Amino acid sequence: MERTLSIVKPDGVKKNLIGEVIRRFEQKGLRVAGLRLIRLSREEARNFYIVHKDRPFYDSLTTFMSEGPIVVMALEGDNAIATVRETMGATNYKDAAPGTIRADFATDIERNVVHGSDSVKSADYEIPYFFSSLDLK
Ligand code: RTP
Ligand code: MG
Repeated sequence: MERTLSIVKPDGVKKNLIGEVIRRFEQKGLRVAGLRLIRLSREEARNFYIVHKDRPFYDSLTTFMSEGPIVVMALEGDNAIATVRETMGATNYKDAAPGTIRADFATDIERNVVHGSDSVKSADYEIPYFFSSLDLK
């Protein structure tokens, strides 16, 4: 059993895709263990994506991630990390496999609807960023 952190990004919330994203994860057998609708400050977005601090897209990404509400969720299941990544599709929607969330709904390499932890190490940073252990059921 594994846990991962996923986010419906501001573009996904604006497009009314919260239910659609959760539905796709549930359909893959993942269980929602924690769920919140929040808005990140610029600083909170910068700390969340701190691994990308030296990337050219860091400023733009963290401005985007703080532009409106997001839905953060902890998902649990066998191979949860890989399952979420497969369900999301490639970072660039143009490279995303047909039927993935990003292939179906992303409009831009940045505005790509969802986030998913990319490793156990990332999940161990990202889940506690939003959920205390008492919040996870
Ligand atoms: P995420 O962390 O959001 O799940 O996405 P990812 O692993 O597929 O991609 P990553 O390399 O971690 O990049 C994080 C997010 O930054 C934006 N991005 N923009 N303009 C660009 O070249 C560029 N590259 C990445 C995307 O929103 C990407 O999901
Ligand atoms: Mg990533």
